[in-house]
Amino acid sequence: MNVYDSQRIANILETLGYQETSSQTAADIIIFNTCHIREKAAEKVFSDLGRALLIKNERLAQGKETIIGVCGCVVQAEDEQIAKRAPFVDFATGPLTYHRLPEILEKVARKKHISVIDTEFPGESKFDYLPENHAQGGCSYLAIQEGCNNFCTYCVVPYTRGVEYSRPINEVLSEAKRLISTGSLELNLLGQNVNSYHGEDENGKERNLAYLLNKLAEIDGLKRLRYTTSYPADMNDDLIACHKNLPQLMPYLHLPIQSGSNSILKAMNRRHTKEDYLRVIEKLYKANPKIGMSSDFIVGFPGETDADFQETLNVVNQVKYIQAFSFKYSKRPGTPAALMSNQIEEKVKKERLDILQTLLFEYQDKFNQSCLGKTMPVLFENKGRHAGQLIGRTPYMQNVHALLDKKYLNQIINVKITEATTNSLSGEKI
Ligand code: 5AD
Ligand code: SF4
Repeated sequence: MNVYDSQRIANILETLGYQETSSQTAADIIIFNTCHIREKAAEKVFSDLGRALLIKNERLAQGKETIIGVCGCVVQAEDEQIAKRAPFVDFATGPLTYHRLPEILEKVARKKHISVIDTEFPGESKFDYLPENHAQGGCSYLAIQEGCNNFCTYCVVPYTRGVEYSRPINEVLSEAKRLISTGSLELNLLGQNVNSYHGEDENGKERNLAYLLNKLAEIDGLKRLRYTTSYPADMNDDLIACHKNLPQLMPYLHLPIQSGSNSILKAMNRRHTKEDYLRVIEKLYKANPKIGMSSDFIVGFPGETDADFQETLNVVNQVKYIQAFSFKYSKRPGTPAALMSNQIEEKVKKERLDILQTLLFEYQDKFNQSCLGKTMPVLFENKGRHAGQLIGRTPYMQNVHALLDKKYLNQIINVKITEATTNSLSGEKI
């Protein structure tokens, strides 16, 4: 979602006459789009800002002004800290208000050295104010839903991105058509709780994600569809049926369980048990036996015992994820879990994370090895590090490296997989 937001921020700046540069010292304006989900991500902002101040001062000595701005969830949660720890920041705006950047930058220009901070939960939808976007490659992100009403006890998202909002069906369809007509073959629909999508159609009737996916699948030229991130309790049968009925829907699903222990899931305020989750996966495999699963895991949530942790490992052994993200529990300000008295020692968290990641990598590696010799359709999105090399993605989101002319960028090409490691594949065009 932050990548999508950054692209939209760049769209706004383009309408104001700015151009993107890869050189920080050449930039008249430097914006950090920030993440508050774990402490490490949030703290990074302050060290990045320190480096930006050096650039600002260096440029000032050459008679050039630099505007420094901060966007994203850290602003929503820590605006006072930013003003205190980085008073040289010219403006700061949360994830729901960056559409106001034109006015914000006007204010910055008028009131030199007084920073403008906007952390309102606005009455308007930013999507109504953003300029039109175009495909930036073969695969585009499309935000269809934002915010979350689930209030998992460890998570800041409901406080930073606010309550759930679903964009209307027609708005999503026209953005999708624009992205496809300007070169995208794949759309990745985004939302913090994307499968609780309930956007209004043209008659004001609320429609679910399955309805939207069916509508999107009718668009000519759309080859691949994905949606990220889903909440297990909201995986309804309509949506599961899409995995059987829509050939464009990729056979890969990111469905976070967080923990395999029912008592920890309860303490996390998740509205599902381990059994509910496994039942959903069983239905998904029935709908499409080729589906590959992915998940997020948190280890060391307050009160997690060795037995609870073992339950998480058991789920991994049962589901055999083809890919996953795993994190040590990180105390977040203002969340209920941060106040729980039974916090887990850092050392234990680290040990559990190592064990979990070793197991997850084993399954990921096994899956990648199973692709050796197979032919897979790969959407090439980027140039590789080596000359003549392109990097793309399989239906399962695996990275594939291939020696290929750059005319194949943003195209789907059949590739025979010749090498597999835990993290990526290599192959040859057939
Ligand atoms: N500590 C560790 N991981 C967290 N996540 C969210 N909040 C925290 C936290 N406080 C993880 C969850 C979520 C992913 C985006 O980040 O696993 O699914
Ligand atoms: Fe955070 Fe996801 Fe839980 Fe919402 S469902 S509170 S975004 S972890």
